Amino acid sequence: MEIHMARKISFVSYKGGVGKTSLTVNLAVCLAQEGYRVLLVDLDTQANASIWLLRLKRWNRLNATGEGAIYSIFNPGTATLADCVVRDVIESTDGTTLVPGLDLVPTTFNLVDLESDLEHGNPDKAPYTIFQEQLLEIEKDYDFILFDCPPDTMRASQCGIFSSDEVYVPANPDALSLIGFTLLGEKLQKLRWAASAYRINGTDSPAEICGVVFNCVREEGDIEIAEMRMRVRLNQFRSHKLAAADARIFKARIRDTDVVRRAFTVGLPVPLLASRTTETAEICADYRNLALELIHHTPARVCEYGELEQSVAGF
Ligand SMILES: Nc1ncnc2c1ncn2[C@@H]1O[C@H](COP(=O)(O)OP(=O)(O)OP(=O)(O)O)[C@@H](O)[C@H]1O
Ligand SMILES: [Mg+2]
Repeated sequence: MEIHMARKISFVSYKGGVGKTSLTVNLAVCLAQEGYRVLLVDLDTQANASIWLLRLKRWNRLNATGEGAIYSIFNPGTATLADCVVRDVIESTDGTTLVPGLDLVPTTFNLVDLESDLEHGNPDKAPYTIFQEQLLEIEKDYDFILFDCPPDTMRASQCGIFSSDEVYVPANPDALSLIGFTLLGEKLQKLRWAASAYRINGTDSPAEICGVVFNCVREEGDIEIAEMRMRVRLNQFRSHKLAAADARIFKARIRDTDVVRRAFTVGLPVPLLASRTTETAEICADYRNLALELIHHTPARVCEYGELEQSVAGF
């Protein structure tokens, strides 16, 4: 019997503004356009992904009450993750579905309260265990679940990291991305130790780094040195078991273009822009290539886990 496994993927970095949200949003659209069922979970209190996909008017309504936003799952009895799913989230102004199969668990500004002591939450349960238990109820509905995390490894990020099979690090071709990468490796290892006792048997998620994606690439000269340095660091991470054995730097890179900023301003992901300029076509191709590379390169660990589940089910 074949067991359906959603690939659960976090985009994490210690450096802000490297492209976590834009990669997550545009990749989610490309995956859905390839026919996959995709859930994007917004774990960043800045709510950029939620505002991008819902547009400001719908998101403002949500933010006014907080009902249906992710923070409510951490207050027992208020809502479950399943209650928060906005199905086929992207709509045209007349309410027509634009990307069937792409769902969103949105966030609102109150998610910031997760980082202080919860007023009504269970003090004995880490938020990431509550999140994982609720995610288990809905993950069979999806092929891909993508987590957009804030630029840290605090409680909201931990929810995504702990539930992920794959952690990817977006990087810009600059020295600061490399510094952030080093710090992230150390923090992820600490989180792995702290969380190991809470893993649900058979859903082991070691939160290893599985790859690096370069974003905002200007020219080839720009990237070669940055990529070489990142590769050296990734090799060190591998040898210290901070990164998966088959962790990789993606061949697909995302170029630097104003189109990305413009897409957020008009409230449409890049692949849905009406503009037919060469610039738009090129950046669409970048995101699509990244989606195809992700689809065709399932990390060995995820395959092994799938096989393990299948053999248990067969037994
Ligand atoms: N390929 C790109 N070309 C040009 N601008 C980009 C590109 N990718 C992202 N940007 C812009 O860079 C800024 C930061 O991008 P984004 O919000 O995706 O980063 P982030 O890592 O999610 O940030 P944060 O850490 O604040 O969550 C945004 O203004 C976005 O429009
Ligand atoms: Mg972001």
